[in-house]
Amino acid sequence: MCGIIGYTGSLDASGKLIKGLKSLEYRGYDSAGIAVYNSELNEVIIAKSKGRVAQLEAKANGISGNTGIGHTRWATHGNVSDTNSHPHKFGNVTLVHNGIIENYESIKNQLGVAGRLKSQTDTEVVAALIDNYYQIGSDPSNAIIKAIKEIKGTFALGILFDDIPNKIYAVRNVSPIVCCKNDDGAYIASDITAIGEYSKEYFVLPELAIAEISRDGFNIYDFNGNQVDIEYIELDWDINSSGKKDFPFYMEKEITEQPAAIQRIINDYVKNDLPCFDINDKLFRDFDSITVIACGTAMHAGLIGKHLIEKLCRIPVNVCVASEYMYSMPIVNDRTLVICVSQSGETIDTLEALKYAQSNGAGSLAIVNVKASSIAMQADNVIYTNAGPEIAVASTKAYTTQVAVFYLIAAKIAYLRGILSKDDVKDFINELKKVPSAVENVIDRREEIHRLSSSLLTAEHTFMIGRGLDYPALLEASLKLKEISYIHSEAFASGELKHGTIALITSKTPVIALITQKALASKQQSNIREVQSRGAMVITIATHGISDNIDFALPTLKDDFNIIPAVVAMQLLAYYVSADKGLDVDKPRNLAKVVTVE
Ligand code: F6R
Repeated sequence: MCGIIGYTGSLDASGKLIKGLKSLEYRGYDSAGIAVYNSELNEVIIAKSKGRVAQLEAKANGISGNTGIGHTRWATHGNVSDTNSHPHKFGNVTLVHNGIIENYESIKNQLGVAGRLKSQTDTEVVAALIDNYYQIGSDPSNAIIKAIKEIKGTFALGILFDDIPNKIYAVRNVSPIVCCKNDDGAYIASDITAIGEYSKEYFVLPELAIAEISRDGFNIYDFNGNQVDIEYIELDWDINSSGKKDFPFYMEKEITEQPAAIQRIINDYVKNDLPCFDINDKLFRDFDSITVIACGTAMHAGLIGKHLIEKLCRIPVNVCVASEYMYSMPIVNDRTLVICVSQSGETIDTLEALKYAQSNGAGSLAIVNVKASSIAMQADNVIYTNAGPEIAVASTKAYTTQVAVFYLIAAKIAYLRGILSKDDVKDFINELKKVPSAVENVIDRREEIHRLSSSLLTAEHTFMIGRGLDYPALLEASLKLKEISYIHSEAFASGELKHGTIALITSKTPVIALITQKALASKQQSNIREVQSRGAMVITIATHGISDNIDFALPTLKDDFNIIPAVVAMQLLAYYVSADKGLDVDKPRNLAKVVTVE
């Protein structure tokens, strides 16, 4: 949700800012802008535009200077317009912001600046507040600190002052800022994909610390003026691999990366055919129940985890939508293990729910992709999914690696609690080891899926039906289809359809049926016939040999293990529908990759 970037150094700033904004665009693509200090004119020059970074690029042509900040926006306060685009300038202060300022209305009234503000954003008020405490020549940190003490909300701010040509100031609360430097200067960004090419190491700016950034690096201090120590993290993602290569869309590239990503989970977390995390066994032994907290696709991974853990370990697992968790009077105590799942590690609802659970004594584990992200740092324990940068807004490889981790967690708990013998666990793990090549098989046959997808192109509604573990897999498949193809889709437990929704089935509603659970196959076939007899066209995706009339046959893995290949097949289905409709697969309307607002 909004990306910010900053550079100060010996090179041209606007080129670096625009390049970085292109990498950050997946965080929001309503508008983009840069502000660069021009030393010849002695002023901050701003270029901003609604729409994509490509539109900004034309406007920013010719802006020169060595110090600047940039922003890509997912609109929260104020419509999508040039005026509401960041950066915002008030008086001597220009800034970019990621987050939400909750009390901006009261600050606006208190400052009496309503008539002087140009935009409807919460952000411009922060510029006005800092400016209120700033006089040319005075200490900018004091002005920032005074302002921050009055602000309620989440923020990552990059700030320029009119009389300080070669410095950027940055401060954050919750919303992330990462920093790195090289011989050419110093860089800040909302995430490392935007600046990772400049250095092999970076650090996360500590919360509520002021960073004074010059071409020589960073001076970081707390609100009392004490120096704050920073911890560098090694960048182990190959940033070059984050390009699109020859694929038309990141989503297709990321789908094809899944066999390797799942294999990496097995390589990283299986030793001697047993699950092995760098986490004290007590975490997996000493609890009575599990609560999985996550949003969207990550929550769907949690639903698969629930099924696996409950089936294998007979331990109750509750899966909570993060935004509802705190308000649902959750039953949480020191015998609860909370597992937070998040690709970005920055989803604010998941983060806040995690803090709430911790404050009630729960043990915590985060399953996260992005290193040193807020959720990874907040949880007591973390398992990284190491899927590499996921750029397409629709999550694919992050999901399948999260699910792969849940297989290992289920096996670990079952082994530690003596539910499965060592040999049983090894058998389980050996079946999991077949998943990467099964996914490869699905991807190799993607043209078969492409052909099937053509029957969805003109659909307005689709339903997806499945039983047992297939049902949560379809919730994910349905979300994928909705978000990138704009076709309304709903997943149903097959037996539930006839309790109302079957009234919507006509010859114009394609139904996608999934069958990977042998014991449930015949019941599922009856459900398929029910919708066919109402005229529905059914696409059946099923394990090879499990049923008649299969339109796409999944490789033959044991029941519980075909879920990942099945979801990959349906990721491809959604992908082809979106691409063939001519849509922007990677950047669906109204969405952003990282959701840092509640
Ligand atoms: C959908 C999708 C979202 C995210 C959700 C949580 O394709 O990606 O539903 O799963 O916004 O994001 P993270 O995993 O970053 O917490």
